[in-house]
Amino acid sequence: MHLKELNLVNYRNYVNLELSFSSNLIIFSGRNAQGKTNILESIFLLCTGRSHRTPRDSELVLWGEKKSMVRSLVEKKEGPSLIEIMLSLSNNKKIKINSSIAQRIGELMGHMNSVLFSPEDLKLVKGSPRERRRFMDIEISQVKPKYFYSLQQYNRLLNHRNNLLKEINQKSSLRKTLPVWDEQIAKVGSYVIMQRLEFINSIKKIAREIHDQISLGRESLEIRYNPSINFDSSDESGIMEEYLENLESNHEEDIKRGRTSKGCHRDDISIYINDMDARTFASQGQQRTTVLSLKLSEIEMMFRQTGEYPLLLLDDVMSELDKYRQAKLLSYFDKVQTFMTVTDYSELPKDMDSNMEIYEVFEGKVARV
Ligand SMILES: Nc1ncnc2c1ncn2[C@@H]1O[C@H](COP(=O)(O)OP(=O)(O)OP(=O)(O)O)[C@@H](O)[C@H]1O
Ligand SMILES: [Mg+2]
Repeated sequence: MHLKELNLVNYRNYVNLELSFSSNLIIFSGRNAQGKTNILESIFLLCTGRSHRTPRDSELVLWGEKKSMVRSLVEKKEGPSLIEIMLSLSNNKKIKINSSIAQRIGELMGHMNSVLFSPEDLKLVKGSPRERRRFMDIEISQVKPKYFYSLQQYNRLLNHRNNLLKEINQKSSLRKTLPVWDEQIAKVGSYVIMQRLEFINSIKKIAREIHDQISLGRESLEIRYNPSINFDSSDESGIMEEYLENLESNHEEDIKRGRTSKGCHRDDISIYINDMDARTFASQGQQRTTVLSLKLSEIEMMFRQTGEYPLLLLDDVMSELDKYRQAKLLSYFDKVQTFMTVTDYSELPKDMDSNMEIYEVFEGKVARV
């Protein structure tokens, strides 16, 4: 897919920014704190309905203003999509897709997809399981709205169950209502597990190949889904039964702790490099290579699932990679429209695409170089 137009009004440090893009490689260059990441953030917001940096929409509105708007025109095989998101300090965000108001955020999914790669992504390897769940969730949600809704539902159910567990501590007669929540959680949770299982099964093959290439055959990358629920079944209804058993066998402990100890909110991905657990052993360079392999795999996955390449958003990562890895990334630019931030465009590799568009970003203003 191709992002043709981007318009930001009162978004972060932009009063009114209107850009049209015609090439596959777009560079935003400028010193620190000028607004480069803000642009990539707005593109990510248009894809997923939320910023990658904050869960609070109010932070996105230009200081002193009450509302902001971001709008994009994206061209796909099946035709163009016009996406508009209105943010405000006082109300929930409003989304318009091709001029009609979306009732739910999930309707946004699939209209515009992106893969974002920023220095914080290094946390994927060594950070907490939450980072790795986020990685799966963002990817799967973008191509499968049902997954997005299921996660929202799961989190609501989990909150209810956790509150109930705390109440049972005070009033044990409430215990009889626990199975009702268990059943609902097991139903949604087993769907989430199935989707994650499928996702990991497909991405692990692609990631292994890509990692083999990037590491020049020196490293083998192995990723495994590491679910919190123990199960042997391979179909959703079987997993649901076992999910339920897992919940039931933890009732005593859950009540004591006042929270749900097992379930897909505790899932993780295990990453091994040459059979060693990357979470403890990976060097800086290995972490970078692994994250690059995972991100490039995400691109391939999205292409296979939707028939369309997503947008690639690279925030400050080129300088972190060596020449060989830079070249590997560069090789994607012909098929994947890429938006990249750098602090100084003159330091980019000389053999980069001659059609690229370079923009200089300075204090919330953008000028074509
Ligand atoms: N809601 C807002 N209203 C106005 N300005 C904001 C808002 N939120 C952030 N900013 C400003 O945006 C700037 C940061 O923009 P951004 O993160 O895009 O910088 P950057 O160019 O990516 O910098 P770096 O190279 O350090 O990553 C800061 O100067 C910050 O003060
Ligand atoms: Mg930045």
